Amino acid sequence: MLTATDRAGHALGVTEMDDTHRTFVGYLDALAKASEADFPGLFHQLLGHTRKHFERETQLMHECSFPAIAEHGAEHARVLADLTHLAIRVQQGNLVMARTYVSGLPDWFRHHLATMDSALAARLKAHATHQVP
Ligand SMILES: [Fe+2]
Ligand SMILES: [Fe+2]
Repeated sequence: MLTATDRAGHALGVTEMDDTHRTFVGYLDALAKASEADFPGLFHQLLGHTRKHFERETQLMHECSFPAIAEHGAEHARVLADLTHLAIRVQQGNLVMARTYVSGLPDWFRHHLATMDSALAARLKAHATHQVP
């Protein structure tokens, strides 16, 4: 579970990324507390949101010629593939594996944010500063 301190530490200073990450964390929090009835719908929303989140970061990586695009993209692809496979299980009524996976996502996200996403944010900010108006 993410603490209030974690949440405060989420800001990377790129508004668009910060907004997306806040929503992502909101889904993780909601899923951690979700009833059996609510979990499938929320999980489906998390999958859709995460797909858009990662697609947009890929676009941003291209826009600023991010050097670690392959590594960052591979990490996104791995998580998205996991969520996609688990969504099938959830659809079949098996929530156990998805619940376990979701409970590990805050730790994954904390690490991803501190490495890949913060490197991307730093690059975007430097890129914006050096752009000719
Ligand atoms: Fe991100
Ligand atoms: Fe990312």
